[in-house]
Amino acid sequence: MRPHGAAVLASMALGACVETPMEPTAEFGAFAFQQDCAACHGTDAMGAGSFGAELIEQPPDLTTISARNGGVFPRDEVMSVIDGFARGDHFSAAMPEFGAGDMGEIVLVEEAGIATPVPVRLLALAEYLESIQR
Ligand code: HEC
Repeated sequence: MRPHGAAVLASMALGACVETPMEPTAEFGAFAFQQDCAACHGTDAMGAGSFGAELIEQPPDLTTISARNGGVFPRDEVMSVIDGFARGDHFSAAMPEFGAGDMGEIVLVEEAGIATPVPVRLLALAEYLESIQR
């Protein structure tokens, strides 16, 4: 049996001596980003982290996603990329498909009257990335 997401997170939070509640907030997203993404995207999300620098395909600056998309943050696309659900053909295989892991409890996100189920961790990561756009 796989351990419950909250239990896993609690143990990770203890390990890091940080207690950030698992909520769909930019604050929790920042915490999750440092755990799952910073090694490749850098602690400031602006370029290559220590591991990312070793990759053939350099991780892009994640603070300019909106700027490269006509000033709009493409939240659904970003979540699809992280999740691994939808990636362009050009996308290298370097970045893990996080949807294969445990992204936590499912919450419903309502957009234009349509409710979409999204795991908390994924939503939090998208909130965080949106909050750091320049
Ligand atoms: C093993 C290294 C690695 C890890 C870990 C990683 N990424 Fe990536 N990521 C990449 C690479 C390389 C690309 C560029 C892929 C391409 O376009 O071929 C990328 C692309 C992206 C993109 C698309 C950016 C754009 O400008 O289009 C987003 C969004 C993203 N990553 C978010 C994340 C998040 C959030 C996490 C943590 C949950 C994460 N990544 C973890 C390597 C990584």
